[in-house]
Amino acid sequence: MTNTKAVEILDGKEVAKSVRIDLKKEVAAFTAAGHRAPGLAVVLVGDNPASELYVRNKIKACAKVGIESFLRRFDKDATEEQVLECIKELNQSDTVDGILVQLPLPGHLSEEKILEEIDPNKDADGLHPYNLGCLTAGVAGLRPCTPAGIITLLDFYKVPLEGASAVVIGRSQLVGKPAALLLLERNATVTICHSRTQNLDQVVRQADILVVAVGRSEFVPGSWIKPGAVVVDVGIHYHKTEDGGSKITGDVEFGSASEVAGKISPVPGGVGPMTVAQLLANTVWSYKRRLNLD
Ligand SMILES: NC(=O)c1ccc[n+]([C@@H]2O[C@H](COP(=O)([O-])OP(=O)(O)OC[C@H]3O[C@@H](n4cnc5c(N)ncnc54)[C@H](OP(=O)(O)O)[C@@H]3O)[C@@H](O)[C@H]2O)c1
Repeated sequence: MTNTKAVEILDGKEVAKSVRIDLKKEVAAFTAAGHRAPGLAVVLVGDNPASELYVRNKIKACAKVGIESFLRRFDKDATEEQVLECIKELNQSDTVDGILVQLPLPGHLSEEKILEEIDPNKDADGLHPYNLGCLTAGVAGLRPCTPAGIITLLDFYKVPLEGASAVVIGRSQLVGKPAALLLLERNATVTICHSRTQNLDQVVRQADILVVAVGRSEFVPGSWIKPGAVVVDVGIHYHKTEDGGSKITGDVEFGSASEVAGKISPVPGGVGPMTVAQLLANTVWSYKRRLNLD
């Protein structure tokens, strides 16, 4: 069955821009009142080209809203002690409100150990176990950027969450699990699917809201989607094309899904920009708390 109404695009680029405009006004008001600018430190280890690109984009986004950024670079052979030492120093710094360690780290470094070293009050990515615990307990804290960005996107398009049947495919610490918890916090009825889920297509067909974070290109076809459902595609996959160009796909088959869905986020231009916008929002949130500006 297809949807008779044209699909609405959940335009993450536009929503991220509106988040940045609000943050810029807020930051400008604080600095005009004599406060220092908020600061975000980015720790980059190695020379992974995708990580380099993400870090450049995050630093550019900081500049757009008046957040000062501090880049700490290490070569790919850096030791765990060096990175931990850097984080300890950033934890102590008065001008750093947020610390972000760009993932993935080279294999010889423990992501767990390094993320745990970050002061939870400066955990801009919201991935410290303390902040994940706050999310589970339903108390204030820094929320993981991608899932929180998804909620902002859904709110912008006035998607009703309360009482909705939400299906999340994926249960990673980074996306799936926190996305499910945030939807639950907003009173959706949430089902979490993973690689052992039986009859996935049937479960997906029940979803008013479908969040796909499976990490497999074009995994969900339109035939699985309930007509009129809201589809959030978290996946991002880069491909080389035969003519030497490149192409980006998501975890959802966009063409067939947009014939059935009521609303859908594109890849690129959907969840990706929202993740960066949330990073900025988290940094400003920490800044206000640290300077008692709430
Ligand atoms: N746009 C953004 O800002 C952004 C941010 C983060 C991630 N991403 C993208 O989002 C995607 C997911 O990221 P992630 O970090 O959550 O990935 P991940 O850690 O690899 O997790 C993938 C999840 O999908 C589940 N899964 C794998 N195969 C499945 C199958 N056949 N049926 C049902 N479930 C299956 C896995 O289940 P098990 O737990 O059972 O193994 C796992 O829970 C990736 O493409 C990533 O690049 C985008």
